[in-house]
Amino acid sequence: MPFINGKEVGPTGYGTMRMTWTAEPTPDAAAFETLNKALELGANFWNGGELYGTPEYNSLHLMNKYFTKYPGNAEKVVLSIKGGLQVGSLTPDGSEENIRRSVDTCLELVGTKKIDIFECARQDPNFPIEHTVQVLANYVKEGKIGGIGLSEVDAETIRRAAKIHPIAAVEVEVSMWSPDIFENDIAKTCAELNIPVIAYSPLGRGALTGALTSVSDIPEGDYRHHLARFKEENFQQNLKLIDEVKSLAARKEVAPAQVALGWIRSLSDKPGMPTIIPIPGGTTVDKVTQNLVGVKLFSDEEMAEVDAILKQHTVAGGRYM
Ligand SMILES: NC(=O)c1ccc[n+]([C@@H]2O[C@H](COP(=O)([O-])OP(=O)(O)OC[C@H]3O[C@@H](n4cnc5c(N)ncnc54)[C@H](OP(=O)(O)O)[C@@H]3O)[C@@H](O)[C@H]2O)c1
Repeated sequence: MPFINGKEVGPTGYGTMRMTWTAEPTPDAAAFETLNKALELGANFWNGGELYGTPEYNSLHLMNKYFTKYPGNAEKVVLSIKGGLQVGSLTPDGSEENIRRSVDTCLELVGTKKIDIFECARQDPNFPIEHTVQVLANYVKEGKIGGIGLSEVDAETIRRAAKIHPIAAVEVEVSMWSPDIFENDIAKTCAELNIPVIAYSPLGRGALTGALTSVSDIPEGDYRHHLARFKEENFQQNLKLIDEVKSLAARKEVAPAQVALGWIRSLSDKPGMPTIIPIPGGTTVDKVTQNLVGVKLFSDEEMAEVDAILKQHTVAGGRYM
């Protein structure tokens, strides 16, 4: 089992984003049931953010309510929280004043649950990473947060950050349709520095589950409509990769989501690879159960087959715009 900040975590974590960052937040009872199922099935690394929702209702509010109801679970969960953006916006503000505002707000909102890892959701280009890490290092020293994570950074930034303070985890997009970290230096750097990678959007934001056959399947107002890969002309092209995932799933007698997660888990800790912990979302007990139970690891032949599929079906559209 992997360790983060000295705590043992399951090989798959859980992303809480969509419980508070959709037009209709998940009702408390359903959210608690899903969170309890994730924990029961071993996903004790939870990911959330000040940005997932509004200043009035985001991951921190949900975590506060959950841990108030289940205080005994606080010690079991390793909680990673992102912040450091301008209030109510997605623009990074890496000034000391704003990072402190963000951490202090998150600490106040989360209640008694410890924030095990805090990370700035995006590095503000106006400030060097050394400054960001130093501000957060003071919070670690004071015992207010457990550790420091990095989100959406490049390999050089990871190296520079790690010189200032130990880095608990690096959160980057990793999936069969975002294998970038294996091609740039991020996976290699994290392996070398022994930093776990937190693989966000491991199901390609839902696309690799096979649940979407057209962009019109995505609800109105959903943020995916703003992403290049979900523009109809690109999505139709990307269906070729999704169909390959479905076909592989049928042959392995698992669900497509389980293929997407099995591939990531099979790469974790292989020679030259870092520990990689996928954090799939899924707001229901059924989805979380599928993501955590019955995921099969891949043989070397299957890994080679996926490599060939990924080479043949490159994804159309950037990860964001
Ligand atoms: N650092 C960053 O910049 C960043 C960016 C994005 C996300 N993240 C983190 O990564 C986590 C996961 O990413 P994500 O939500 O973007 O993408 P994802 O996990 O790749 O996909 C989530 C989508 O797949 C659906 N789903 C989950 N399990 C399923 C299953 N077994 N069968 C069918 N559908 C299933 C979800 O349904 P529901 O509608 O029920 O959720 C949701 O629509 C987030 O919660 C967040 O914590 C970080």
